Amino acid sequence: MAHTVAGVTLGLTQPVNIEHPKISFAAKEIDAVEWKGDILAVGVTEKDMTKDENSKFQNSVLKKLDGLLGGLLAEVLSEEDFTGKAGQTAVLRLPGLGSKRVGLIGLGLAASSPAAFRGLGEAVAAAAKTAQANSVAVVLASSEGLSNESKLSTASSIASGTVLGIHEDNRYKSESKKPQLKSVDILGLGTGPELEKKLKYAEDISSAIIFGRELVNSPANVLTPAALAAEASKIASLYKDVLSANILTAEQCKELKMGSYLGVAAASANPPYFIHLCYKPPSGPIKAKLALVGKGLTFDSGGYNIKTGPGCSIELMKTDMGGSAAVLGAAKALGQIKPPGVEVHFIVASCENMISGTGMRPGDIITASNGKTIEVNNTDAEGRLTLADALVYACNQGVEKIVDLATLTGACIIALGPSIAGVFTPSDDLAKEVFEASEISGEKFWRMPLEESYWESMKSGVADMVNTGGRQGGAITAALFLKQFVDEKVQWMHIDLAGPVWNDKKRVATGFGVSTLVEWVLKNSSK
Ligand code: BES
Ligand code: MN
Ligand code: ZN
Repeated sequence: MAHTVAGVTLGLTQPVNIEHPKISFAAKEIDAVEWKGDILAVGVTEKDMTKDENSKFQNSVLKKLDGLLGGLLAEVLSEEDFTGKAGQTAVLRLPGLGSKRVGLIGLGLAASSPAAFRGLGEAVAAAAKTAQANSVAVVLASSEGLSNESKLSTASSIASGTVLGIHEDNRYKSESKKPQLKSVDILGLGTGPELEKKLKYAEDISSAIIFGRELVNSPANVLTPAALAAEASKIASLYKDVLSANILTAEQCKELKMGSYLGVAAASANPPYFIHLCYKPPSGPIKAKLALVGKGLTFDSGGYNIKTGPGCSIELMKTDMGGSAAVLGAAKALGQIKPPGVEVHFIVASCENMISGTGMRPGDIITASNGKTIEVNNTDAEGRLTLADALVYACNQGVEKIVDLATLTGACIIALGPSIAGVFTPSDDLAKEVFEASEISGEKFWRMPLEESYWESMKSGVADMVNTGGRQGGAITAALFLKQFVDEKVQWMHIDLAGPVWNDKKRVATGFGVSTLVEWVLKNSSK
Protein backbone atom coordinates (compact mmCIF):
# COMPACT_ATOMS: atom_id res chain seq x y z
CA MET A 1 0.00 0.00 0.00
CA ALA A 2 2.86 2.36 0.68
CA HIS A 3 3.32 4.99 -2.02
CA THR A 4 5.13 8.09 -0.90
CA VAL A 5 7.99 10.31 -1.90
CA ALA A 6 10.47 8.31 -3.99
CA GLY A 7 8.68 5.12 -2.99
CA VAL A 8 9.74 5.43 0.64
CA THR A 9 7.06 5.65 3.27
CA LEU A 10 7.34 8.28 5.96
CA GLY A 11 8.50 6.41 9.06
CA LEU A 12 9.79 3.55 6.89
CA THR A 13 6.76 1.40 7.68
CA GLN A 14 6.00 -1.45 5.31
CA PRO A 15 2.85 -3.40 6.11
CA VAL A 16 3.55 -7.12 6.15
CA ASN A 17 1.61 -9.00 3.54
CA ILE A 18 -0.11 -11.62 5.67
CA GLU A 19 -1.85 -14.50 3.96
CA HIS A 20 -5.17 -15.13 5.67
CA PRO A 21 -5.54 -18.89 5.51
CA LYS A 22 -8.98 -19.58 4.18
CA ILE A 23 -11.47 -21.20 6.52
CA SER A 24 -13.48 -23.85 4.71
CA PHE A 25 -17.16 -24.10 5.51
CA ALA A 26 -19.28 -27.17 4.97
CA ALA A 27 -22.96 -27.71 5.65
CA LYS A 28 -23.70 -31.16 7.02
CA GLU A 29 -26.71 -33.07 8.27
CA ILE A 30 -25.09 -35.30 10.85
CA ASP A 31 -25.98 -35.79 14.48
CA ALA A 32 -24.07 -33.28 16.63
CA VAL A 33 -22.96 -35.95 19.08
CA GLU A 34 -21.35 -37.96 16.27
CA TRP A 35 -19.20 -35.04 15.14
CA LYS A 36 -15.44 -35.36 15.65
CA GLY A 37 -13.14 -32.36 15.98
CA ASP A 38 -11.86 -29.69 18.35
CA ILE A 39 -14.95 -27.76 19.43
CA LEU A 40 -18.61 -28.58 19.09
CA ALA A 41 -20.29 -25.19 19.51
CA VAL A 42 -23.98 -25.18 20.40
CA GLY A 43 -26.07 -22.02 20.09
CA VAL A 44 -28.46 -22.05 23.04
CA THR A 45 -31.38 -19.76 23.90
CA GLU A 46 -32.56 -19.20 27.45
CA LYS A 47 -35.58 -21.32 26.62
CA ASP A 48 -33.36 -24.20 25.50
CA MET A 49 -31.97 -24.28 29.04
CA THR A 50 -35.29 -25.22 30.68
CA LYS A 51 -35.32 -28.50 32.54
CA ASP A 52 -38.11 -30.97 33.13
CA GLU A 53 -39.42 -32.20 36.47
CA ASN A 54 -36.43 -34.57 36.75
CA SER A 55 -33.99 -31.66 36.28
CA LYS A 56 -33.10 -32.95 32.82
CA PHE A 57 -32.86 -30.78 29.71
CA GLN A 58 -36.01 -30.72 27.61
CA ASN A 59 -34.11 -29.68 24.53
CA SER A 60 -33.19 -32.74 22.49
CA VAL A 61 -29.63 -31.73 21.53
CA LEU A 62 -28.69 -30.76 25.08
CA LYS A 63 -30.43 -33.81 26.48
CA LYS A 64 -28.49 -36.14 24.21
CA LEU A 65 -25.16 -34.52 25.01
CA ASP A 66 -25.92 -34.54 28.73
CA GLY A 67 -26.95 -38.18 28.54
CA LEU A 68 -23.68 -39.18 26.88
CA LEU A 69 -21.83 -37.27 29.56
CA GLY A 70 -23.73 -38.84 32.41
CA GLY A 71 -25.30 -35.56 33.53
CA LEU A 72 -21.98 -33.74 33.65
CA LEU A 73 -23.05 -31.08 31.14
CA ALA A 74 -26.01 -29.90 33.23
CA GLU A 75 -23.86 -29.94 36.32
CA VAL A 76 -20.98 -27.94 34.87
CA LEU A 77 -23.28 -25.44 33.20
CA SER A 78 -25.10 -24.69 36.39
CA GLU A 79 -21.75 -24.33 38.19
CA GLU A 80 -20.64 -21.90 35.50
CA ASP A 81 -23.94 -20.04 35.85
CA PHE A 82 -24.64 -20.48 32.14
CA THR A 83 -28.26 -19.56 31.42
CA GLY A 84 -28.20 -18.94 27.66
CA LYS A 85 -28.17 -15.15 27.96
CA ALA A 86 -26.80 -13.36 24.92
CA GLY A 87 -23.04 -12.91 25.24
CA GLN A 88 -22.51 -15.87 27.58
CA THR A 89 -20.03 -18.52 26.48
CA ALA A 90 -18.98 -21.67 28.31
CA VAL A 91 -16.30 -23.83 26.74
CA LEU A 92 -15.96 -27.12 28.53
CA ARG A 93 -13.37 -29.85 28.24
CA LEU A 94 -15.42 -32.97 28.82
CA PRO A 95 -14.42 -36.59 28.25
CA GLY A 96 -16.46 -39.14 26.38
CA LEU A 97 -17.39 -37.24 23.22
CA GLY A 98 -16.06 -37.21 19.65
CA SER A 99 -15.22 -33.54 20.06
CA LYS A 100 -12.47 -32.36 22.35
CA ARG A 101 -14.54 -29.51 23.77
CA VAL A 102 -18.14 -28.46 23.91
CA GLY A 103 -18.85 -24.76 23.65
CA LEU A 104 -22.21 -23.45 24.74
CA ILE A 105 -22.99 -20.04 23.35
CA GLY A 106 -25.87 -17.97 24.70
CA LEU A 107 -28.29 -16.50 22.17
CA GLY A 108 -30.60 -14.70 24.61
CA LEU A 109 -34.37 -15.10 24.81
CA ALA A 110 -34.81 -16.03 21.16
CA ALA A 111 -32.31 -15.58 18.37
CA SER A 112 -33.80 -14.59 15.06
CA SER A 113 -31.87 -11.67 13.59
CA PRO A 114 -28.84 -11.89 11.29
CA ALA A 115 -26.97 -9.82 13.88
CA ALA A 116 -27.64 -12.46 16.57
CA PHE A 117 -26.30 -15.26 14.37
CA ARG A 118 -23.34 -13.20 13.30
CA GLY A 119 -22.71 -12.74 17.04
CA LEU A 120 -22.83 -16.54 17.41
CA GLY A 121 -20.18 -16.85 14.69
CA GLU A 122 -18.03 -14.24 16.45
CA ALA A 123 -18.33 -16.12 19.74
CA VAL A 124 -17.36 -19.35 17.97
CA ALA A 125 -14.30 -17.55 16.55
CA ALA A 126 -13.34 -16.28 20.02
CA ALA A 127 -13.64 -19.78 21.49
CA ALA A 128 -11.62 -21.24 18.60
CA LYS A 129 -8.86 -18.69 19.16
CA THR A 130 -8.62 -19.39 22.88
CA ALA A 131 -8.54 -23.14 22.40
CA GLN A 132 -6.34 -22.88 19.28
CA ALA A 133 -8.86 -25.08 17.55
CA ASN A 134 -8.35 -26.34 14.00
CA SER A 135 -11.85 -27.58 13.44
CA VAL A 136 -15.19 -26.58 14.88
CA ALA A 137 -18.81 -27.50 14.29
CA VAL A 138 -21.72 -25.16 14.95
CA VAL A 139 -25.21 -26.35 15.69
CA LEU A 140 -28.32 -24.66 17.07
CA ALA A 141 -29.96 -26.38 20.02
CA SER A 142 -33.31 -25.64 18.34
CA SER A 143 -33.33 -25.34 14.58
CA GLU A 144 -36.47 -27.40 13.90
CA GLY A 145 -38.81 -24.44 13.61
CA LEU A 146 -36.73 -22.60 11.02
CA SER A 147 -38.01 -22.18 7.48
CA ASN A 148 -35.74 -23.15 4.61
CA GLU A 149 -35.12 -19.47 3.88
CA SER A 150 -34.11 -18.68 7.45
CA LYS A 151 -31.85 -21.74 7.61
CA LEU A 152 -29.95 -20.36 4.62
CA SER A 153 -29.56 -16.91 6.12
CA THR A 154 -28.71 -18.29 9.57
CA ALA A 155 -25.92 -20.43 8.12
CA SER A 156 -24.54 -17.50 6.17
CA SER A 157 -24.64 -15.18 9.20
CA ILE A 158 -22.81 -17.75 11.31
CA ALA A 159 -20.19 -18.18 8.57
CA SER A 160 -19.55 -14.45 8.14
CA GLY A 161 -19.46 -13.90 11.91
CA THR A 162 -16.84 -16.62 12.22
CA VAL A 163 -14.63 -15.24 9.43
CA LEU A 164 -14.90 -11.67 10.77
CA GLY A 165 -14.31 -12.81 14.34
CA ILE A 166 -11.17 -14.73 13.41
CA HIS A 167 -9.71 -11.83 11.43
CA GLU A 168 -7.03 -9.78 13.17
CA ASP A 169 -5.17 -7.03 11.40
CA ASN A 170 -1.56 -7.84 12.22
CA ARG A 171 0.04 -6.22 9.18
CA TYR A 172 1.67 -3.53 11.31
CA LYS A 173 2.86 -5.76 14.14
CA SER A 174 6.38 -7.13 14.12
CA GLU A 175 5.15 -10.38 15.64
CA SER A 176 1.79 -12.09 15.48
CA LYS A 177 0.12 -15.44 15.99
CA LYS A 178 -1.39 -17.21 13.03
CA PRO A 179 -5.04 -18.17 13.43
CA GLN A 180 -5.39 -21.95 13.59
CA LEU A 181 -8.99 -22.41 12.51
CA LYS A 182 -9.23 -24.25 9.18
CA SER A 183 -12.65 -25.83 8.98
CA VAL A 184 -16.14 -25.06 10.19
CA ASP A 185 -18.97 -27.56 9.83
CA ILE A 186 -22.46 -26.12 10.06
CA LEU A 187 -24.80 -28.80 11.30
CA GLY A 188 -28.57 -29.10 11.07
CA LEU A 189 -29.25 -26.18 8.74
CA GLY A 190 -29.54 -28.22 5.58
CA THR A 191 -27.19 -29.13 2.74
CA GLY A 192 -27.09 -28.74 -1.00
CA PRO A 193 -26.20 -26.27 -3.72
CA GLU A 194 -28.42 -23.44 -2.49
CA LEU A 195 -26.74 -23.45 0.89
CA GLU A 196 -23.27 -23.81 -0.64
CA LYS A 197 -24.00 -20.75 -2.78
CA LYS A 198 -25.10 -18.79 0.26
CA LEU A 199 -21.93 -19.74 2.13
CA LYS A 200 -19.81 -18.66 -0.83
CA TYR A 201 -21.69 -15.36 -0.81
CA ALA A 202 -20.98 -14.95 2.93
CA GLU A 203 -17.28 -15.47 2.20
CA ASP A 204 -17.35 -12.86 -0.59
CA ILE A 205 -18.96 -10.30 1.71
CA SER A 206 -16.64 -11.10 4.61
CA SER A 207 -13.49 -10.75 2.54
CA ALA A 208 -14.78 -7.38 1.30
CA ILE A 209 -15.49 -6.25 4.87
CA ILE A 210 -11.97 -7.30 5.88
CA PHE A 211 -10.58 -5.35 2.93
CA GLY A 212 -12.54 -2.29 4.10
CA ARG A 213 -11.30 -2.70 7.67
CA GLU A 214 -7.71 -2.93 6.53
CA LEU A 215 -8.02 0.23 4.47
CA VAL A 216 -9.35 2.13 7.50
CA ASN A 217 -6.80 0.63 9.91
CA SER A 218 -3.93 1.68 7.65
CA PRO A 219 -2.26 4.83 8.93
CA ALA A 220 -2.19 7.99 6.83
CA ASN A 221 1.56 7.77 6.24
CA VAL A 222 0.96 4.49 4.42
CA LEU A 223 -2.52 4.94 2.98
CA THR A 224 -2.10 8.19 1.04
CA PRO A 225 -4.59 9.23 -1.66
CA ALA A 226 -2.22 7.64 -4.22
CA ALA A 227 -2.20 4.38 -2.25
CA LEU A 228 -6.00 4.40 -1.99
CA ALA A 229 -6.23 4.94 -5.76
CA ALA A 230 -3.76 2.09 -6.30
CA GLU A 231 -5.94 -0.20 -4.14
CA ALA A 232 -8.98 0.78 -6.20
CA SER A 233 -7.15 0.06 -9.47
CA LYS A 234 -6.07 -3.28 -8.07
CA ILE A 235 -9.67 -4.29 -7.41
CA ALA A 236 -10.66 -3.24 -10.91
CA SER A 237 -7.92 -5.34 -12.48
CA LEU A 238 -8.69 -8.30 -10.22
CA TYR A 239 -12.29 -8.35 -11.53
CA LYS A 240 -11.67 -6.82 -14.92
CA ASP A 241 -14.48 -8.81 -16.54
CA VAL A 242 -16.94 -6.52 -14.72
CA LEU A 243 -15.01 -3.57 -13.27
CA SER A 244 -13.17 -0.71 -14.94
CA ALA A 245 -11.17 2.09 -13.31
CA ASN A 246 -10.66 5.72 -14.16
CA ILE A 247 -8.31 7.58 -11.82
CA LEU A 248 -8.21 11.35 -12.31
CA THR A 249 -5.21 13.49 -11.37
CA ALA A 250 -5.44 16.99 -9.88
CA GLU A 251 -4.87 18.40 -13.37
CA GLN A 252 -7.86 16.48 -14.76
CA CYS A 253 -10.01 17.52 -11.80
CA LYS A 254 -9.07 21.12 -12.50
CA GLU A 255 -10.34 20.72 -16.05
CA LEU A 256 -13.62 19.50 -14.57
CA LYS A 257 -13.67 22.64 -12.39
CA MET A 258 -13.67 20.77 -9.08
CA GLY A 259 -12.58 23.83 -7.10
CA SER A 260 -14.24 22.67 -3.91
CA TYR A 261 -12.41 19.33 -3.80
CA LEU A 262 -9.11 20.80 -4.96
CA GLY A 263 -9.37 23.53 -2.32
CA VAL A 264 -9.28 20.89 0.39
CA ALA A 265 -6.42 19.02 -1.28
CA ALA A 266 -4.30 22.17 -1.75
CA ALA A 267 -2.33 22.05 1.53
CA SER A 268 -1.02 18.51 1.15
CA ALA A 269 2.32 17.32 -0.18
CA ASN A 270 0.54 14.09 -1.14
CA PRO A 271 -1.40 14.77 -4.34
CA PRO A 272 -5.13 14.06 -4.54
CA TYR A 273 -6.62 11.31 -6.72
CA PHE A 274 -10.22 11.16 -7.86
CA ILE A 275 -11.28 7.53 -8.03
CA HIS A 276 -14.02 6.25 -10.34
CA LEU A 277 -14.69 2.54 -10.72
CA CYS A 278 -17.56 1.26 -12.82
CA TYR A 279 -19.30 -2.09 -12.49
CA LYS A 280 -21.12 -3.51 -15.53
CA PRO A 281 -22.67 -6.99 -15.48
CA PRO A 282 -21.03 -9.66 -17.66
CA SER A 283 -24.09 -9.76 -19.94
CA GLY A 284 -27.74 -8.81 -20.30
CA PRO A 285 -29.65 -5.56 -20.15
CA ILE A 286 -29.19 -2.92 -17.45
CA LYS A 287 -32.29 -2.03 -15.42
CA ALA A 288 -30.83 0.32 -12.82
CA LYS A 289 -27.89 2.72 -12.67
CA LEU A 290 -26.54 3.48 -9.24
CA ALA A 291 -23.69 5.42 -7.68
CA LEU A 292 -21.92 4.88 -4.38
CA VAL A 293 -19.94 7.92 -3.28
CA GLY A 294 -17.49 7.70 -0.36
CA LYS A 295 -15.66 10.37 1.62
CA GLY A 296 -11.96 9.60 1.18
CA LEU A 297 -9.97 11.88 3.47
CA THR A 298 -6.90 9.77 4.17
CA PHE A 299 -6.19 12.22 7.00
CA ASP A 300 -8.12 15.16 8.44
CA SER A 301 -6.03 17.52 10.56
CA GLY A 302 -8.78 20.12 10.36
CA GLY A 303 -6.59 22.45 8.31
CA TYR A 304 -6.17 25.97 9.74
CA ASN A 305 -9.17 25.19 11.95
CA ILE A 306 -6.91 22.50 13.34
CA LYS A 307 -8.40 19.83 15.55
CA THR A 308 -7.33 20.75 19.06
CA GLY A 309 -8.74 20.19 22.48
CA PRO A 310 -9.97 17.13 24.31
CA GLY A 311 -12.14 14.72 22.36
CA CYS A 312 -11.26 16.08 18.92
CA SER A 313 -9.62 12.70 18.15
CA ILE A 314 -7.10 14.05 15.65
CA GLU A 315 -5.09 10.85 16.13
CA LEU A 316 -8.05 8.86 14.76
CA MET A 317 -8.43 10.93 11.63
CA LYS A 318 -6.86 8.24 9.46
CA THR A 319 -10.41 6.81 9.67
CA ASP A 320 -11.78 9.76 7.70
CA MET A 321 -11.78 7.61 4.57
CA GLY A 322 -14.22 5.12 6.13
CA GLY A 323 -16.91 6.04 3.58
CA SER A 324 -14.56 5.27 0.71
CA ALA A 325 -13.54 1.99 2.37
CA ALA A 326 -17.20 0.94 2.41
CA VAL A 327 -17.60 1.93 -1.24
CA LEU A 328 -14.43 0.13 -2.40
CA GLY A 329 -15.27 -2.87 -0.21
CA ALA A 330 -18.66 -3.04 -1.95
CA ALA A 331 -16.89 -2.83 -5.33
CA LYS A 332 -14.72 -5.80 -4.38
CA ALA A 333 -17.71 -7.87 -3.23
CA LEU A 334 -19.74 -7.03 -6.36
CA GLY A 335 -16.72 -7.87 -8.52
CA GLN A 336 -16.91 -11.35 -7.00
CA ILE A 337 -20.70 -11.72 -6.97
CA LYS A 338 -21.32 -10.22 -10.46
CA PRO A 339 -25.04 -9.41 -10.16
CA PRO A 340 -26.98 -8.96 -13.44
CA GLY A 341 -29.09 -5.99 -14.52
CA VAL A 342 -27.34 -3.25 -12.59
CA GLU A 343 -24.61 -0.70 -13.33
CA VAL A 344 -22.77 0.77 -10.34
CA HIS A 345 -20.38 3.71 -10.18
CA PHE A 346 -17.97 3.88 -7.23
CA ILE A 347 -16.73 7.41 -6.68
CA VAL A 348 -14.17 8.80 -4.22
CA ALA A 349 -12.64 12.29 -4.25
CA SER A 350 -9.61 11.32 -2.17
CA CYS A 351 -7.20 13.78 -0.53
CA GLU A 352 -5.71 14.91 2.77
CA ASN A 353 -6.79 17.91 4.84
CA MET A 354 -3.45 19.37 5.94
CA ILE A 355 -1.94 22.73 6.82
CA SER A 356 0.55 24.68 4.71
CA GLY A 357 1.14 27.96 2.94
CA THR A 358 -0.58 26.59 -0.16
CA GLY A 359 -3.74 25.57 1.68
CA MET A 360 -7.16 27.15 2.09
CA ARG A 361 -7.62 29.90 4.65
CA PRO A 362 -10.78 30.25 6.71
CA GLY A 363 -12.84 32.80 4.83
CA ASP A 364 -11.67 31.77 1.36
CA ILE A 365 -14.35 31.43 -1.32
CA ILE A 366 -14.13 28.36 -3.52
CA THR A 367 -16.18 27.33 -6.57
CA ALA A 368 -17.55 23.83 -7.04
CA SER A 369 -17.95 22.06 -10.39
CA ASN A 370 -21.66 22.96 -10.61
CA GLY A 371 -20.68 26.64 -10.40
CA LYS A 372 -21.86 27.18 -6.83
CA THR A 373 -19.62 29.29 -4.59
CA ILE A 374 -18.77 28.39 -0.99
CA GLU A 375 -17.34 30.62 1.72
CA VAL A 376 -15.18 28.30 3.80
CA ASN A 377 -15.92 29.53 7.31
CA ASN A 378 -14.32 26.40 8.76
CA THR A 379 -11.58 24.38 7.06
CA ASP A 380 -12.45 21.40 9.27
CA ALA A 381 -15.77 20.95 7.46
CA GLU A 382 -13.77 19.59 4.52
CA GLY A 383 -15.56 16.31 3.85
CA ARG A 384 -18.63 18.05 2.45
CA LEU A 385 -16.38 20.14 0.18
CA THR A 386 -14.86 17.04 -1.38
CA LEU A 387 -18.26 15.34 -1.60
CA ALA A 388 -19.78 18.38 -3.34
CA ASP A 389 -17.68 17.77 -6.47
CA ALA A 390 -17.97 14.00 -6.14
CA LEU A 391 -21.79 14.27 -6.08
CA VAL A 392 -21.86 16.58 -9.10
CA TYR A 393 -19.63 14.06 -10.93
CA ALA A 394 -21.91 11.18 -9.86
CA CYS A 395 -25.01 12.97 -11.21
CA ASN A 396 -23.19 13.45 -14.52
CA GLN A 397 -22.88 9.65 -14.87
CA GLY A 398 -26.63 9.49 -15.54
CA VAL A 399 -27.45 7.45 -12.46
CA GLU A 400 -30.95 7.20 -10.96
CA LYS A 401 -29.88 6.72 -7.35
CA ILE A 402 -26.92 7.85 -5.28
CA VAL A 403 -25.92 6.74 -1.81
CA ASP A 404 -23.05 8.65 -0.24
CA LEU A 405 -21.22 7.52 2.88
CA ALA A 406 -19.06 9.79 4.97
CA THR A 407 -17.46 10.15 8.38
CA LEU A 408 -18.92 13.61 8.16
CA THR A 409 -19.70 15.02 11.59
CA GLY A 410 -18.89 14.63 15.25
CA ALA A 411 -22.46 15.89 15.74
CA CYS A 412 -23.81 12.62 14.35
CA ILE A 413 -21.84 10.69 16.99
CA ILE A 414 -23.30 12.96 19.66
CA ALA A 415 -26.80 12.32 18.30
CA LEU A 416 -26.65 8.54 17.73
CA GLY A 417 -23.65 7.29 19.68
CA PRO A 418 -20.80 5.12 18.42
CA SER A 419 -22.64 2.26 16.72
CA ILE A 420 -25.50 3.76 14.69
CA ALA A 421 -25.15 5.58 11.38
CA GLY A 422 -27.36 8.57 10.51
CA VAL A 423 -29.43 8.39 7.32
CA PHE A 424 -30.56 11.53 5.50
CA THR A 425 -32.72 11.40 2.40
CA PRO A 426 -35.69 13.20 0.90
CA SER A 427 -36.76 9.91 -0.73
CA ASP A 428 -38.99 7.55 1.27
CA ASP A 429 -38.57 4.92 -1.45
CA LEU A 430 -34.80 4.94 -1.22
CA ALA A 431 -35.00 4.93 2.59
CA LYS A 432 -37.19 1.83 2.39
CA GLU A 433 -34.73 0.04 0.10
CA VAL A 434 -31.70 0.77 2.26
CA PHE A 435 -33.46 -0.08 5.52
CA GLU A 436 -34.55 -3.40 4.04
CA ALA A 437 -30.94 -4.03 3.05
CA SER A 438 -29.83 -3.23 6.60
CA GLU A 439 -32.26 -5.82 8.01
CA ILE A 440 -30.29 -8.43 6.10
CA SER A 441 -26.84 -7.01 6.88
CA GLY A 442 -27.57 -6.41 10.56
CA GLU A 443 -25.92 -2.96 10.46
CA LYS A 444 -27.62 -0.20 12.41
CA PHE A 445 -29.06 2.94 10.81
CA TRP A 446 -31.42 5.65 11.98
CA ARG A 447 -33.23 8.10 9.73
CA MET A 448 -32.71 11.77 10.60
CA PRO A 449 -34.65 14.80 9.36
CA LEU A 450 -33.49 17.00 6.49
CA GLU A 451 -34.96 20.09 8.15
CA GLU A 452 -34.95 22.75 5.41
CA SER A 453 -35.47 25.65 7.85
CA TYR A 454 -31.99 24.97 9.24
CA TRP A 455 -30.53 26.05 5.91
CA GLU A 456 -30.85 29.58 7.25
CA SER A 457 -27.62 29.12 9.23
CA MET A 458 -25.73 28.16 6.04
CA LYS A 459 -26.24 31.48 4.28
CA SER A 460 -23.26 33.65 3.41
CA GLY A 461 -23.18 37.42 2.89
CA VAL A 462 -20.77 37.12 -0.01
CA ALA A 463 -21.05 33.62 -1.51
CA ASP A 464 -23.85 31.15 -2.28
CA MET A 465 -23.36 29.45 1.07
CA VAL A 466 -20.95 28.89 3.93
CA ASN A 467 -19.72 25.40 4.71
CA THR A 468 -20.67 25.24 8.40
CA GLY A 469 -23.69 26.43 10.30
CA GLY A 470 -22.63 26.14 13.90
CA ARG A 471 -22.92 23.39 16.48
CA GLN A 472 -26.67 22.93 16.64
CA GLY A 473 -28.00 20.21 14.34
CA GLY A 474 -24.54 19.88 12.83
CA ALA A 475 -25.20 16.54 11.13
CA ILE A 476 -28.38 17.94 9.54
CA THR A 477 -26.82 21.14 8.18
CA ALA A 478 -23.98 19.02 6.75
CA ALA A 479 -26.54 16.88 4.91
CA LEU A 480 -28.38 20.00 3.68
CA PHE A 481 -25.06 21.25 2.31
CA LEU A 482 -24.57 18.04 0.30
CA LYS A 483 -28.09 18.33 -1.08
CA GLN A 484 -27.05 21.53 -2.91
CA PHE A 485 -24.88 19.38 -5.18
CA VAL A 486 -27.39 16.69 -6.11
CA ASP A 487 -29.70 16.86 -9.13
CA GLU A 488 -33.32 16.98 -8.05
CA LYS A 489 -34.15 14.20 -10.51
CA VAL A 490 -31.78 11.81 -8.76
CA GLN A 491 -32.82 9.86 -5.67
CA TRP A 492 -30.14 10.55 -3.09
CA MET A 493 -29.21 9.36 0.40
CA HIS A 494 -26.44 10.52 2.69
CA ILE A 495 -25.13 8.18 5.40
CA ASP A 496 -23.03 9.66 8.21
CA LEU A 497 -20.94 6.81 9.65
CA ALA A 498 -18.58 8.87 11.83
CA GLY A 499 -19.59 6.71 14.83
CA PRO A 500 -19.74 3.13 13.54
CA VAL A 501 -16.61 3.31 11.36
CA TRP A 502 -14.45 2.57 14.40
CA ASN A 503 -14.60 0.09 17.27
CA ASP A 504 -13.27 2.02 20.25
CA LYS A 505 -13.05 -1.02 22.51
CA LYS A 506 -11.01 -3.11 20.11
CA ARG A 507 -9.23 -0.06 18.66
CA VAL A 508 -9.79 -1.25 15.10
CA ALA A 509 -12.04 -0.46 12.15
CA THR A 510 -15.39 -2.20 11.77
CA GLY A 511 -15.80 -2.37 7.99
CA PHE A 512 -19.18 -0.70 8.47
CA GLY A 513 -21.30 -0.12 5.38
CA VAL A 514 -19.93 -2.76 3.02
CA SER A 515 -22.60 -5.39 3.60
CA THR A 516 -25.57 -2.99 3.54
CA LEU A 517 -24.33 -1.44 0.30
CA VAL A 518 -23.96 -4.83 -1.34
CA GLU A 519 -27.44 -5.92 -0.22
CA TRP A 520 -28.87 -2.67 -1.56
CA VAL A 521 -27.20 -3.12 -4.95
CA LEU A 522 -28.48 -6.72 -5.11
CA LYS A 523 -32.01 -5.44 -4.44
CA ASN A 524 -31.62 -3.22 -7.48
CA SER A 525 -30.23 -6.02 -9.64
CA SER A 526 -32.29 -8.58 -11.50
CA LYS A 527 -30.94 -11.59 -9.60
N1 BES B 1 -13.93 14.03 9.92
C1 BES B 1 -14.64 14.93 10.74
C2 BES B 1 -15.83 14.29 11.45
C3 BES B 1 -15.50 13.28 12.49
C4 BES B 1 -15.33 13.64 13.81
C5 BES B 1 -15.38 11.94 12.17
C6 BES B 1 -15.03 12.70 14.77
C7 BES B 1 -15.08 10.98 13.12
C8 BES B 1 -14.91 11.38 14.44
C9 BES B 1 -15.16 16.10 9.90
O1 BES B 1 -14.38 16.44 8.82
C10 BES B 1 -15.21 17.27 10.80
O2 BES B 1 -14.19 17.71 11.21
N2 BES B 1 -16.41 17.76 11.07
C11 BES B 1 -16.57 18.87 11.92
C12 BES B 1 -17.58 19.80 11.30
C13 BES B 1 -17.68 21.12 11.98
C14 BES B 1 -16.42 21.93 11.73
C15 BES B 1 -18.87 21.85 11.45
C16 BES B 1 -17.04 18.36 13.28
O3 BES B 1 -17.82 17.41 13.32
O4 BES B 1 -16.59 18.89 14.28
MN1 MN C 1 -12.85 17.80 9.37
ZN1 ZN D 1 -13.21 14.99 8.03
